[in-house]
Amino acid sequence: MMEATGRDDAGDGGETGGVASWLDFWDAEHSIYVNRQHVEAHYRRLTADIAPLLPPAPFTLLDYGCGEALMAPALVERGGRVLLFEPAPVRRAGLARRFAGAPGIAVVDEAGWRALPAGSCDLVLLISVIQYLERAALAELLAGLKPLLSPGGRLVIGDIVGPEGGMIKDVAALLTFAARNGFLTAALAGLARTWLSDYRKIRERLGFATYTPDALAALLAEGGWRGESLAWNIGHAGHRRSMVAWPVTG
Ligand SMILES: C[S@@+](CC[C@H](N)C(=O)[O-])C[C@H]1O[C@@H](n2cnc3c(N)ncnc32)[C@H](O)[C@@H]1O
Repeated sequence: MMEATGRDDAGDGGETGGVASWLDFWDAEHSIYVNRQHVEAHYRRLTADIAPLLPPAPFTLLDYGCGEALMAPALVERGGRVLLFEPAPVRRAGLARRFAGAPGIAVVDEAGWRALPAGSCDLVLLISVIQYLERAALAELLAGLKPLLSPGGRLVIGDIVGPEGGMIKDVAALLTFAARNGFLTAALAGLARTWLSDYRKIRERLGFATYTPDALAALLAEGGWRGESLAWNIGHAGHRRSMVAWPVTG
């Protein structure tokens, strides 16, 4: 079996790129999305990839680490009450302004999601988040999310980076996605900006937490979950994996 968990692209602790953590990176301005077309295509893709996993309407969904959350209105249209949690505080404040008064959408803070009633969520999304967490922090997060799930409720962990996955595969996946969605030129320019920016330095220094499906299933099992791989990834990066999990012990 491959290494159970690991760090991808860990570097030698040199230049920090000006931010101390991934959370700081996501809270600041960045050029991961090369333009509006990119961010819209990204969330259209997430919406389509999540659609087969949605519970029957009406349902309550918590999107943990939701980012720009452009799929929230589409989830409401499908019968969801959507709770958005973005841990990066500046981004969260922006979401709260953008979705203020939007029917069916609430932006919650850390205390807010932790105070949700037991059994109140039918689906929890954790998409493209766990690579930024230390293993112990992920275990703690899973323990916090578990009581929130309703009977039959599911956790979807998406865009999991494997030990073999690196920046080259990510670049290839982005360029393919960009070509299919009509923003290839902008993607090439954006990649050049990103390459020269903090992102590369941070990724070299902090790396990603990486998991094989077996390793993540084992971590889930330690916390009283059962996890199964999905046949597709949630998101455009076909070399990454996604899993669905549900509690098996209280
Ligand atoms: C790539 S974005 C994913 C956004 C969205 N889920 C999506 O798939 O488009 C990464 C997310 O991980 C969150 N994140 C980064 N570091 C974190 C940390 N240490 N703890 C919790 N969340 C973190 C960021 O705030 C951001 O919401």
